[in-house]
Amino acid sequence: MPLVTSAEMFRKAYGKYAVGAFNVNNMEIIQGIVAAAREENAPLILQVSAGARKYASHIYLMKLVEAAVEDTGLPICLHLDHGEDFEICMACVDGGFTSVMIDGSKYPFEENIALTRQVVEYAHDRGVVVEAELGRLAGVEDAINVSAADSSYTDPEQAAEFVQRTGCDSLAVAIGTSHGAYKFKGEANLDFKRLETITFLLPGYPLVLHGASTVLPEFVAKCNHYGGEIKDAMGVPEEMLRRAGTMGVCKINIDTDLRLAMTASIREYLALHPADFDPRQYLRPAREAIKNMVQHKIRNVLNSSNQL
Ligand code: G3H
Ligand code: 13P
Ligand code: ZN
Repeated sequence: MPLVTSAEMFRKAYGKYAVGAFNVNNMEIIQGIVAAAREENAPLILQVSAGARKYASHIYLMKLVEAAVEDTGLPICLHLDHGEDFEICMACVDGGFTSVMIDGSKYPFEENIALTRQVVEYAHDRGVVVEAELGRLAGVEDAINVSAADSSYTDPEQAAEFVQRTGCDSLAVAIGTSHGAYKFKGEANLDFKRLETITFLLPGYPLVLHGASTVLPEFVAKCNHYGGEIKDAMGVPEEMLRRAGTMGVCKINIDTDLRLAMTASIREYLALHPADFDPRQYLRPAREAIKNMVQHKIRNVLNSSNQL
């Protein structure tokens, strides 16, 4: 089974459940995620940010994901997360990815359209699908920190025009989520009315929710119990994510929850075994923590078990 695009996954999922898109940076993260998807018989997108590509390098991540496909026989989609220019999208298309995101959300509407259109033409000619973004999420991605004041929700009319003029295959929308562990102050609130209007204007079209970690309190507490100092963290309640998954959101992006699960596990292990210094001893439970987190997401958030 070779790598696949997300086209068929989204067609099947639309309105019923969401496909999990998990960020990967190294072997243990990939193995943990894939083990969970295999056990749950769930569709899977593995996504690589520019930062991950810099950290591990394209070729290592590519080969690790190919190994996962060969090892499990799962139909995995390999996706570039937040491609910021044409060049990185081109490099990932040429380098074997089956899906790329061009994130022109920081540009004015017409510039975002022109850039997205350019990537769509290049990718589609080579059988690769394209995610774009309209509206701007707050929070931290790579070295970019978007303040709440600079964020903006997706305009539904513009979303419909954007999709029609660019030909992009899926669209990331801003309805109140943000990247990282500090998504809301006080009460969590997503603009479901806006999501409903976007879905109404783009019937059957797959939408993407970024910044969709729940920041589960027990993992923050565990990190802090073993020496961490994570304060005022807050994520998207699971019930809101489940609702989004029935409203045209076909792809839900999760990174922060994996980071928290892995870090909590490593902190705990090292605190309880101060004399150990074999990385396998703390990476084995960390990999298991990733697996458990992904399994939890598939069952309780994405509702994507047994959808292969
Ligand atoms: O949206 C950003 C993802 O969480 C990836 O984060 O750019 O630090 O790898 P990163
Ligand atoms: P979180 O930071 O909420 O996990 O979002 C990840 C994301 O959107 C990756 O593109
Ligand atoms: Zn994102």
